[in-house]
Amino acid sequence: MPAGEADACGYATFVAANTRPNPVPLCPEITLYVADQAVPLWLRTAEEIDDMGLPPPFWAFAWAGGQALARFVLDQPQWVRGKRVLDLGAGSGLVGIAARLSGAAAVICADPDPWAQAAIELNAELNGVRLDLTGADLLARPEDPLPLECDIVLVGDLFYEQPLAGHVLAFLTAQRAAGLLALIGDPGRSYLPKDRLVRMAEYGVPAAGELEDADIKRTAVWRLG
Ligand SMILES: C[S@@+](CC[C@H](N)C(=O)[O-])C[C@H]1O[C@@H](n2cnc3c(N)ncnc32)[C@H](O)[C@@H]1O
Repeated sequence: MPAGEADACGYATFVAANTRPNPVPLCPEITLYVADQAVPLWLRTAEEIDDMGLPPPFWAFAWAGGQALARFVLDQPQWVRGKRVLDLGAGSGLVGIAARLSGAAAVICADPDPWAQAAIELNAELNGVRLDLTGADLLARPEDPLPLECDIVLVGDLFYEQPLAGHVLAFLTAQRAAGLLALIGDPGRSYLPKDRLVRMAEYGVPAAGELEDADIKRTAVWRLG
């Protein structure tokens, strides 16, 4: 969807008005609509729909895990070239964009957050790539067929909350059993199941805005064993 078209709820308009295009620090070949600060944007988003219980604006930042995984895919395109890719918890769409730039045959971005879906569409357009989208909660029924048949699941920074991490691991385990590969970018969040993962690469990732506890986050790319 080109930006602004079919934006009846105003999500794309809101994203464009509250962010600006910036190159991703670890992947400067990709530019994303990002915000400088999380909290003011979070408040504006909540005011927009009069709901103070909203999740943070994850879509407005390139998270350390996503940056590392995008860098990995850009530097080692053989992991995705010609493949059908699921970018789970896509946020800004960073990882999916990297996969497309590296020659993925198709990429579907999954994120239930409507602002993330608007950001993904704007960012895809900004980077001249096509991304498909689903807002369905794929984690609710991990054994169900995916909306697009896929070869590989890419996961940028999804192990930051315990219940979500458990659902992601169950989903990836089911997909792995069905023959898909699963790659994860993660800076060692609290609920990363390291005992189930094989480390593939490591990067020093410049932190997104004021969101992290260090200016450079050591961040690894992992494969589900
Ligand atoms: C920390 S952000 C990571 C975004 C992006 N992958 C990156 O690395 O920059 C986590 C994202 O997961 C999404 N998310 C939360 N629950 C989800 C679910 N059940 N299925 C898919 N995505 C989900 C959030 O909306 C958010 O965009």
